[in-house]
This record gives sequence, C-alpha cells and structure tokens, in this order.
Amino acid sequence: MRNYIILLALFIYLNPKAQTIQTLDSGTKASIRGLSVVNDSIFWASGSNGKVARSTNGGKTIQWLTVPGYEKRDFRDVEAFDASTAIIMAIAEPAVILKTKDAGKTWKKVFEDSTKGMFLDAMDFGSNGVVGIVVGDPINNKAFIAFTVDRGETWNQDTRAYDTLVAGEAFFASSGTNVEMISGPHQRTIYLQVTGGKQSRFFKNGKVVSSLNLASGKESTGANSFAMYKRKNVVVVGGDFTNDTSAVGNCLLSSDFGKTWKQPTIQPHGYRSCVAFITNKKLITCGTSGVDISEDWGYNWRLISNQSFHVCQKAKWGTAVYLAGANGRIAKLR
Ligand SMILES: *[C@@H]1O[C@H](CO)[C@@H](O)[C@H](O)[C@H]1NC(C)=O
Ligand SMILES: *[C@@H]1O[C@H](CO)[C@@H](O)[C@H](O)[C@H]1NC(C)=O
Ligand SMILES: *[C@@H]1O[C@H](CO)[C@@H](O)[C@H](O)[C@H]1NC(C)=O
Repeated sequence: MRNYIILLALFIYLNPKAQTIQTLDSGTKASIRGLSVVNDSIFWASGSNGKVARSTNGGKTIQWLTVPGYEKRDFRDVEAFDASTAIIMAIAEPAVILKTKDAGKTWKKVFEDSTKGMFLDAMDFGSNGVVGIVVGDPINNKAFIAFTVDRGETWNQDTRAYDTLVAGEAFFASSGTNVEMISGPHQRTIYLQVTGGKQSRFFKNGKVVSSLNLASGKESTGANSFAMYKRKNVVVVGGDFTNDTSAVGNCLLSSDFGKTWKQPTIQPHGYRSCVAFITNKKLITCGTSGVDISEDWGYNWRLISNQSFHVCQKAKWGTAVYLAGANGRIAKLR
C-alpha cells in the first residue's frame, strides 16, 4: 500500500499536465474574499476598503473601483449575473447588500440591518440566478437567513424555526462558500450550509444532517467552505486559520449528500478557506498556506502553489478558474 502511494505520488509529480497559478493583478490595498465568475471572460471580485474588481476580458485588464460612501466597508461576498449586474455584501454595522446594474457606476441599497450582533457571512443564488439566500451569524443561537426571489432586488428574513446552533458555532465569512442554494423544478429550492467554530455541522434547509469531524474547539477552527456535485458528492474544507500549515481536520468527503463522511487519503496541505469543483471529479482548494488540486473527488490532494489565496471559483458558464486573496491578488489557474 505504502509503495503504491509513493508510486502514485511520483506519477502525479511527473505528470506533464501540471497546473500552475498565473498572477493577473496584485498590489491593491484590499483583502479579497468575494469572487464570482460568470464565464471565461467575465468575473467580479470584492473585498475590504470598499473595493470591487471587475474584468470582461479574462483578466487581461482588471478595473478596480471603490464604492462611494462605503470606503471602509468589507465586502466579503459578491454574486455577479453578467458584465454589468452584480450584488455585493458588507458584513456588519450595519449589514448591507448593494446591487449595481451599470457595471459598478451606481449602487442601490437592497438590504440593510443594524441589529446589534448582525454579521453577514455569505450569499448564494440558484442556477436560475433569481432565487438567492444570505446567511448571517447566529443571534441568540439562531442563524440569520434571508431570501430573495427577484434577483436580489428585495430580501425577506426567514423566521421559521431552524435547528439552533451551540455556543461558539457560527459561519465563517472567509470566501462566501459556506452556503449553497439549488433551485429545483417549480421554483422549489434546497439550501445547504456548513457551520464552523467550536463545532462544525452540515445543514439542509436549516436542519442538521450530520456532524463534521474537523478541527474543532476554537473560534478559528472548523468548516469554512464546501462544494457539491449533483446532490451526491460533497467536499468540505477548513482547519484552523491560526495554524494554517496544519492539515489536521481540514477536509471531509461525502458520497451520499452529506449523511456520512470520510477523510481523504492525502489531505490538502494546510488550512483551506475555499473549495470548488472544476469538473465532475476534479477540485481546487485554496487557503493562506497554498493551493491544492484533486483529480479524484477529493481523495488525493496535490499542492500546486504555496501562495496565499482566500477564494477560488470556476466560471458558472465556462471552464476558467480564478483565485483571489490578500493585497488585491487575483490569479488564474493554467
Ligand atoms: C461571456 O458572456 C458575455 C455576455 O453574455 C459574452 O459576450 C461573451 O462572449 C462570453 N464570453 C465567453 C468566453 O463565453
Ligand atoms: C498546529 O498543528 C499541529 C499539527 O499539525 C499541532 O501539533 C500544533 O499543536 C498546532 N499548534 C497550535 C498552536 O494549535
Ligand atoms: C512549497 O514550499 C515547500 C517548502 O518550502 C517546497 O518544498 C515546495 O516545493 C513548495 N511547493 C510548491 C508547489 O511551490
């Protein structure tokens, strides 16, 4: 078995299809955690200091803008619909969602909540781009959830009774990928979430499906992100962001839509804040200590870069994969 693993590692190492990360831009004073890739040429990114980045030519040129009146805000997530339409989410005090329809020239406030303790973590839209969800940290052990059914023009808090979270269990606002919405037929939607912190769990429609045996017990530990393929394969990543080279409890895999979980054979090489499917069985994951690729549903991970990134996303309608992180760094997988 051991020899087999060594041979396999050698084969992968010598594989000429080796992938690399090409930096497209860096140096802007912003920590980028929001990234939304529409197709191979159009992507939007968002981050701290009120910054939004946008490209319509696959990153050959990147336009940076600062949202007027929001220069100190941290836009932790973005959802782009096309070259001119996007929604950005500022986390707290007050929590705000803004929408532009003119490529970022003007922004309209579509949601605001000044409740003490309100902290938005992530948004997601179903594949029809009409129905969406925003998730916020628990207040009195109750997660905040609001929905839109009109492409983010209006948002309504969902006040149904969800399973409560335990003390110290919350959502990481590290890459906007701890919630996923699936739109089914007849506008029927399902949403999935992963919690992190003292404890990590997998939720479906606000109800606990399973516990995630990841790094736990601290505010800095647990699940940060998950990716899903065809309501079957689920890959969760996380770890401990204060110990970002440790691979202990940083990844779990499910092949039954989150009911049961197993560990990878070769784990990602450190704490990871984001994971995404590139094809039906190929994945990318990134974090402050590097980027890994798996070609086998997440069982074996290969480090392709030691560079720090917060978020990685594949084009919704395309094959391009982009990454973004601290210091305004935006890159593309080659
Ligand atoms: C991306 O979408 C835009 C707008 O629909 C279109 O003009 C462009 O050709 C698309 N690019 C690619 C590479 O698909
Ligand atoms: C960091 O992780 C390693 C295991 O990879 C562990 O031995 C060490 O105690 C951890 N350090 C802290 C400060 O948690
Ligand atoms: C990452 O860093 C380690 C230690 O410095 C080095 O051995 C390894 O080759 C690097 N990997 C990549 C993909 O750059």
